[in-house]
Amino acid sequence: MGISTAPDAPNLAGQPAMYLAAQLRAYRSGERRHEVMAVMAKNLSNDDIAHLAAWFASIRIDVKAP
Ligand code: HEM
Repeated sequence: MGISTAPDAPNLAGQPAMYLAAQLRAYRSGERRHEVMAVMAKNLSNDDIAHLAAWFASIRIDVKAP
């Protein structure tokens, strides 16, 4: 969950909630442009964005050096 399976979409798991929420607001306002994410974000309320950001931020990820 939150680790992308599409090579052209980013991982969201474990990113700071503040960052995720700022990106979703930017897609919603059009400040950050991306066709798919604009559609995803356009109907999100501020509460929706806060909840999504908190959810993805709370996923624990484990990073290992190569
Ligand atoms: C629960 C649904 C989703 C949420 C909360 C979400 C959230 C986000 C966020 C926060 C970013 C910015 C990531 C960053 O800056 O590193 C992002 C980017 C992106 N998402 Fe989503 N996303 C969702 C669904 C999808 C779906 C269904 C797709 C594709 C089918 C998708 C494709 C992408 C792509 C390609 C980007 C990078 C766009 C760019 O270059 O600006 N996302 N998403």
